Formats: sequence, structure tokens, C-alpha cells
Amino acid sequence: MIKGVVLAGGKGTRLWPVTKVAGKHFLPVGDKPIIYYPILTLKKAGVKDILIVCGPEHTEQYVRLLGSGEEFGVNLYYTIQVEPVGIAHGLGLAKSFSDGKKVALILGDNIFGDEFSKAFADFDRKDRGAAVVLKRVPDPHRFGVAKFNGRKVERVIEKPKRPPSDLAVTGLYLYDNRVFDVIKNLKPSARGEYEITDVNNYYINEGTMDFIRAKKFWIDAGTFESLHRANLLVRKHHYSK
Ligand code: DAU
Repeated sequence: MIKGVVLAGGKGTRLWPVTKVAGKHFLPVGDKPIIYYPILTLKKAGVKDILIVCGPEHTEQYVRLLGSGEEFGVNLYYTIQVEPVGIAHGLGLAKSFSDGKKVALILGDNIFGDEFSKAFADFDRKDRGAAVVLKRVPDPHRFGVAKFNGRKVERVIEKPKRPPSDLAVTGLYLYDNRVFDVIKNLKPSARGEYEITDVNNYYINEGTMDFIRAKKFWIDAGTFESLHRANLLVRKHHYSK
């Protein structure tokens, strides 16, 4: 059984002043707070136990909003990331929660039109390795981007000035439990963060990374422009539980 982790820390500075007080993940997209979408994505993929990693400023609000998870039909647990020093660092906090199992990490501002139950079941059957979800985007410089050598992904480059392809690595990742050893050995990047892209490149180098293609819409609601688009897309596609 894959354990789920939703990363909902961070300062949301790209949405200031709106998120200076109210956290980004509580803002509305369609008829729900943003944080509902990643929880629903994990739930629909068959995940039952989900850890919410929150910043210290908003822990109480998360518990008040989401509670035990009963509303979603999942079990929710909470932990605190004191400083938002990187996505890989946030995932690292889930080591004891993961209990030796595989983990699915989803970023708290990522909204997917796709449903991933088959991809998760396939991954669950694998001995070891990782998987990331790729999506073609018009603005790859905002994301981790896949660099190809022929048909093979050679590595992922984080926010490249000159993107080598238009395939973004979305914020949904599957890892075997060795990921916690990979994270332990990471060094901070030039921007001072423990990068999930470095974790992904570890598995790519090892030859154990799978790539899942998102077919429907995907958006990260982290900027004013993308938050606006997220609202339009959720409406257009009649996103529902
Ligand atoms: O959305 C997909 C992209 O997410 C990927 O393509 C990139 O490779 C990946 O680095 C990430 O880029 P962002 O710059 O968009 O990440 P951001 O800092 O906005 O954080 C994403 C979510 O993770 C956000 O909901 C806040 C949360 N977060 C982030 C950090 C750095 C944490 O909970 N803790 C953290 O330390």
C-alpha cells in the first residue's frame, strides 16, 4: 500500500500580498480550497494514509479545515516543516510515517484533471524505482524540464532559462523507500533548497525512473496567472470528486 504525502508548506511569495496572511493552499479554485485537489488526486489513485506537511504558520488551520480526513474517505496525519528549505526536505519529514513503504508525493498547489489509479497500481507492483508525471506546457522555464537523448530522458533540469523540451515534470512523484537515503545525501542547490529534481536525477541515473504522461489538464496554482487559469480549467472540465 503506497503512503501519500502532500506538501503544503512554503511561503507562497509569488502570490503576495494575498498569501502574506492566508496560506496559498486555502485560496479557492472552483468551489474548493486548493489543498482539496491534491488530496483528491491521491485518494482517487487509491491512497488511504496521507501525511500533510504544513508550515508552522498554518498548521492549526489545516487541522480545522481537513480534520481526520473522514470527509475524503482517507486518514490524514500532519507534520510541520519549520522552514521551507525545499521539496525534497519536506518529503524527508515523512520517513517514519512511510513505515518502509513506497511513497507518493504531491505538491499542495498541483491540480490534475487525470486520474492515476492504474499508474499507482503498476508502480506498486514494481520492486524498486521511481516515477514522475510529465505534461507538455507552453511555459517550461517555470518547472523542472525533461532533457531527452533520443527518446530517453537523460535528466531533469530545474527551471532552465533555455528549456531543452516542453515536457514539464509535474508535482506528482512516486518513490520506493530508498528515497529517504537519497534525500539524506542531498546538498542544497544554488538557490539554497533541497531539490526534488536532484532526487529525480538520482533515479534517472540509476535507470529505474518511469515516466507517466498526464493526458488531461494540469496546473500548479502558484502564481496569479496560473491561479486564474486553474479556476477557468476546473470550471471548463467540470472537475468533481
Ligand atoms: O509544480 C511543479 C514544479 O514544482 C516542478 O516542475 C519543479 O521541478 C519543482 O521544483 C516545483 O517548483 P516550484 O517552484 O513551483 O515549487 P514551489 O516552491 O512553488 O513549491 C511547490 C509546493 O510545495 C507549494 O505548494 C509549497 C510546497 N513547498 C515548497 C517548498 C520549497 C513546501 O511545502 N516546502 C518547501 O520547502
